[in-house]
Amino acid sequence: MRILVLHGPNLNLLGEREPEIYGASTLAEIDARLRQRAEQLGGEVRTFQSNHEGALIDRLHEERHWADGILFNPGALTHYAWSLRDAVAAVALPCVEVHLSDVAQREPWRRVSVLADVRVALCAGQGANSYLEAIDLLVEIARPPDRDAAAIGALLAERMANQDAREVLARELAEMIRRAGHFRWAGLYDVGPRQIEVVGWAGPDAPAHPRFPRTEGLNGAAVRSGKAVIVQDVRQDARHLPTIAGTRAEAIFPVRRAGGRIVGTLDVESANAQAFTPVRVRWLEACAQSLEPFWRKPGQ
Ligand code: DQA
Repeated sequence: MRILVLHGPNLNLLGEREPEIYGASTLAEIDARLRQRAEQLGGEVRTFQSNHEGALIDRLHEERHWADGILFNPGALTHYAWSLRDAVAAVALPCVEVHLSDVAQREPWRRVSVLADVRVALCAGQGANSYLEAIDLLVEIARPPDRDAAAIGALLAERMANQDAREVLARELAEMIRRAGHFRWAGLYDVGPRQIEVVGWAGPDAPAHPRFPRTEGLNGAAVRSGKAVIVQDVRQDARHLPTIAGTRAEAIFPVRRAGGRIVGTLDVESANAQAFTPVRVRWLEACAQSLEPFWRKPGQ
């Protein structure tokens, strides 16, 4: 897991800057603790501080293909620098907003955050520990898959070579993807001429709608467009038909036969908004492709 840590204006003076509010730790000490924690979690951090809005944006752009997620303390820019909000939205990486002080209990102007609608979480008010809480949370939200696309593809292929009942096999394939990718729920759906129907699923609960008309829900949208549908926050998408309670992000990947006809979908859900990082989306696209032989099996 690769984490980009961005610190905004005046945070270079931590340690000597209003220690009664921001604590005694220096920025170098905070960065060292983050590096150590990331290593314990099997990850890596890159840290950057700037007193300039544009420099923070430039660094975010530069690291957008390297990072799996961002820890961002924009300092006072938090409260008015809308280009930072747009930059976080543009790179589509999960971002945890961090503040040493409890911004909600200070001057009213500090209660506004430009990151409010694009962050996955906010950690504030615990001094340097806010950063450590944030790194733990980010790892939970955006951990990349345990196996690379080729390795999971080989495992799925090996499993599909077995002669199990279709439902049993679908359940096992869903579980392999769910577990290796750290998702909450995964399911394989058949796409028929009129309806879409779950074949097998893995996760805490059965889907609330095991079958529904081909035109409905995010599955319907993926089938109609022939493309993956990635919804980073289902609360903001009217097409969403809840599968299980507690889902915040959902992604659907259509599966095509060689001739191009869509025969199935892979549906993956997370409890965390913004959970579908570019790395995860590429991995799931590869998984969906690897699943194609499943729909060549008898019984469909
Ligand atoms: C801060 C809070 C901001 O309001 C302030 O301008 C900062 C630091 C914090 O970490 O508590 O510079 O982001």
